[in-house]
Amino acid sequence: MFVSCLLLFSSWKKRRWSHLPPGPPPIPFLGNMLQVDVKDLIPSLRKLSETYGPMYTFHLGSRPCIVLSGYQALKEALIDKAEVFSGRGDFPAVQMWSNGNGIVYGTGERWRQLRRFAITTFKNFGMGKRSIEERIKEEAQILVAELRKTNGQPFDPTFFLSCAGSNIICTLVFGDRFEYTDHQFLTLMGLINSNWKLMSSTWGQLLFTFPKIMRHVPGPHRQIYKNYLKLAEFVGERLRLNKETLDPNNPRDFIDCFLIKLEQEKNNPDTHFTEETMSKTTVNLFFAGTETVSSTLKYGLRILLRHPEVEEKLHEEIDRVIGPNRSPCMEDRARMPYTDAVIHEIQRFADIVPMGVPHTVTRDIEFRGYHIPKDMNIIPLLCTSQFDPSQFKNPNTFDPGHFLDKNGRFKKNDAFMAFSAGKRVCLGEGLAVMELFIFLTSILQSFNLKPLMDSRDIDITPESSGLGNIPRPYQFCLLPR
Ligand code: HEM
Repeated sequence: MFVSCLLLFSSWKKRRWSHLPPGPPPIPFLGNMLQVDVKDLIPSLRKLSETYGPMYTFHLGSRPCIVLSGYQALKEALIDKAEVFSGRGDFPAVQMWSNGNGIVYGTGERWRQLRRFAITTFKNFGMGKRSIEERIKEEAQILVAELRKTNGQPFDPTFFLSCAGSNIICTLVFGDRFEYTDHQFLTLMGLINSNWKLMSSTWGQLLFTFPKIMRHVPGPHRQIYKNYLKLAEFVGERLRLNKETLDPNNPRDFIDCFLIKLEQEKNNPDTHFTEETMSKTTVNLFFAGTETVSSTLKYGLRILLRHPEVEEKLHEEIDRVIGPNRSPCMEDRARMPYTDAVIHEIQRFADIVPMGVPHTVTRDIEFRGYHIPKDMNIIPLLCTSQFDPSQFKNPNTFDPGHFLDKNGRFKKNDAFMAFSAGKRVCLGEGLAVMELFIFLTSILQSFNLKPLMDSRDIDITPESSGLGNIPRPYQFCLLPR
């Protein structure tokens, strides 16, 4: 019995993976799961790359994946072979809800058309131009006014930062912002926040690894699907309202533009623009645009509490370039290399999406001496580029100097991959860059940060790490300047 099992296993292994790059030897059903700490998958995957190199095969349960690590391998795949590596890989936490539809989880021609449509629509609404910048500036002033109400008392910034970040995407998608006290808005942000945390928790990582089993195991991970349904319900309601009040000559938001597109395409039997696609895409944008920006800011403020010397230099640059009497704007950034470097370093160090979102290859390809078959899952460990010792002097230290030259000018580094790279690069990068700059400078223009403990005791490692690196919960005080 034992011998026949061994023979069976050996032929199974030979048949399926002989052409793939080497990796830790898998066992049936469990794959490589006994070789990693499932609760802490990302450090385990990073560690394996020390043994197997920048490209190795890893079995998530019974699914083989290629793990890419280090700037060089990621660049060769995501940038040099961008088209082939542009497929979207399995993301079990969302699969049940998304069914491969929408921008983030779509693939092939549908994804291409949706992405192009979203980029054009956002451009028409002024992403990268003045009007959206004006809206961010307005929201920043509202944020500062809300923060002022904390009266120098200890508070947790999560709520305020989520409201501000989310309102920008709401303005684009739904045409309007919400009050920070709006009950429906708070429920929505609660759903997004809960899913981001669940996907980054041990349960989320177990679901990522053993989707077939975990879908039937009771636990908090099952809430992810329910939360998505609730988000889709809200979006459905907004779609109905927009439909009732649509003026095709005067689109107000992303949803109006999508409704117009639906009408144009209604006689095309092969169209990718359907109500379901619209709903999934809208939820995608809302989700991707809310938690990422607010988590980065929340992480960033905690890092500044840990590094008061950096905060001091930021104040100096803000006072010198912007002064106290006007709102920060994007034009200021070119004259604020230190602030620019700090924001890049916050994004590098906080590493909010450490293993990216899985990709696939869209056709068979010879890559780095191995044959990778079409549809193979690729895990781009973005964190390994962001912390690549060949690209950053002290990758494990928070140091804005990583993005400054010897004359104090801003210095770009291609290994900075917070937004990923290539054809799937974050669609909201331009928007996020504006939000991070304007929100952070507006806060620091108005306040000094005061920690509740000795700065040196502040832990700036994440609380948990999965889809996202989740910053530790904390409180601090804001003292008006
Ligand atoms: C600091 C903020 C942000 C970070 C760090 C971030 C990071 C990322 C990353 C790592 C990906 C995966 C790319 C890949 O598959 O290789 C991604 C995709 C995406 N992001 Fe962002 N993002 C941010 C903000 C935003 C915002 C504000 C939006 C809103 C428009 C947005 C919309 C998207 C979309 C739609 C995708 C899917 C792109 C595709 O599959 O074609 N993101 N983002």
